[in-house]
Amino acid sequence: MKYSAIVLVFLVLIGVSCKQEKVTDKDKKGKKDVVANGYREKHRPQFHFTPPSKWMNDPNGMFYADGEYHLSYQYYPDSIVWGPMHWGHAVSKDLVHWNHLPIALYPDSLGLIFSGGTVVDIHNTSGFGTENNPPVVATFTHHDLEGEKAGTTNFQKQSIAYSTDKGRSWTKYTENPVISNEQKIKDFRDPKVVWHKASKKWIMTLAVYDKVQLFSSSDLKDWSLISEFGIEGDDRLWECPDLFPITVANEDLTKWVLIVSIQKKAPNGGTATGYFVGDFDGTTFKSDPSKQKWLDWGTDNYAFVTWDNIPKNDSRRIGIGWMSNWQYAQSVPTEVWRSAMTVPREIVLHREGDDFILRSLPVQEMTDLRASEISIEPKIVENHAEISGAFDPLQCELELLVDLEKTSARQFGIELSNDLGEKLIITIDKEQGTLMVDRTESSKNKFSEEFYKTVHTAPLTLNGEKLDLSILIDAASIEIFANHGTLNFTDIFFPTEKYTRLSLFSNDGSFVLKEGKIYALKRIWN
Ligand code: FRU
Repeated sequence: MKYSAIVLVFLVLIGVSCKQEKVTDKDKKGKKDVVANGYREKHRPQFHFTPPSKWMNDPNGMFYADGEYHLSYQYYPDSIVWGPMHWGHAVSKDLVHWNHLPIALYPDSLGLIFSGGTVVDIHNTSGFGTENNPPVVATFTHHDLEGEKAGTTNFQKQSIAYSTDKGRSWTKYTENPVISNEQKIKDFRDPKVVWHKASKKWIMTLAVYDKVQLFSSSDLKDWSLISEFGIEGDDRLWECPDLFPITVANEDLTKWVLIVSIQKKAPNGGTATGYFVGDFDGTTFKSDPSKQKWLDWGTDNYAFVTWDNIPKNDSRRIGIGWMSNWQYAQSVPTEVWRSAMTVPREIVLHREGDDFILRSLPVQEMTDLRASEISIEPKIVENHAEISGAFDPLQCELELLVDLEKTSARQFGIELSNDLGEKLIITIDKEQGTLMVDRTESSKNKFSEEFYKTVHTAPLTLNGEKLDLSILIDAASIEIFANHGTLNFTDIFFPTEKYTRLSLFSNDGSFVLKEGKIYALKRIWN
């Protein structure tokens, strides 16, 4: 569905008119953050980022500065369904524990504040700060609801805002918008900026219906269109692009990656995050458009984008995604807040034959949450083996090393279940070379047809002696990292009662576990 159509449907559903919902900077003092109930409500993730209350979608404007990782996000502080967008804001010193800050950007007379990025303007090219106190500059889309209702086609424009106090307060640029959509394209949004060292220019990627346009600027205010990248004949809506350089693991070679989220026809339905690997010369991004890859094969990792300004001595490329899917995001059964982010993931580019692929794994800092380690003895599973021990199956990390050579089972896997017969099944199919997540019977509360419709499948390379699986389970989500992060698979689920059992199983033969560990994980909220 095209974005404008989605917006209209939402507005009809939640019965708002633009006038009633228009929030201006003046109104913001009257707004209160609803304090959540200790973050212990039913389905509330215990170690994933969630807003204290109300609606959240895409991660926005992530940057690192002065010892803090900033995370903004699409936020509607008045309801648990999508509505007039703000940028919510939080900071973390370790990418694990988060402190909520006041809303960073409020809608204004130019419109709602849609997705975008933030850069640390180290050389003060914008002039918003000083050399000694460089500003941080946010780039975002102003979405003019009234213009949209009036049937115009240029209701999405790009604007900027800056902060000179470590992101504590933000000032919108008085000359906004900085890109006014003269092309009159309805879907024209989500500006994310990167510094191109060689040409000393800022490069912005913008999602423009079914492609990406690149703009360049020397001061973050004055932008020129320089090139486009797309797939010939693609009719899918592209969103939230992110272009950045990345060094190939174990090589002295830099490639450029363009991450793009796609609004329909994802591998397992609905929306998902994909990427292209290529080269960028300061003007054109060159990559084979037929080689679009998926960053995550599950249904619930959308709008994944990366942090700006990670310190040189760290040099990781770290990103985070919205753990939901537009197909059902607004009807998931939570009441105080809606939706969570994935765990922050480090992405690393690896050469594979004559191609390159991204591997992603949870950031190393996540291991700080390990409270206790339970080792699972090497075993041969015939049929079913429950794993018992002092851990909560819905707040743990699982590490399994499967002996593929000795495993004779056609299918084997892991099951989470409760006494109501609700279950989530992760199956590896040795014959087909697939990993599947079956949530069709994960709950008796069938709140959405789409959610329960199909078993989700991804191709999994099984030609080695061993298969490693690292799995994070948190209240309502499972994140699977297989083959050292080569395959990522994120799915959410909502059992009516908590799953109390975690079991291993095999079909038609034995499943040989070489090594296994479970870590009980601490929660991140105090
Ligand atoms: C992606 C998206 C963006 C847009 C934002 C609006 O999920 O549709 O393209 O800026 O959400 O909330």
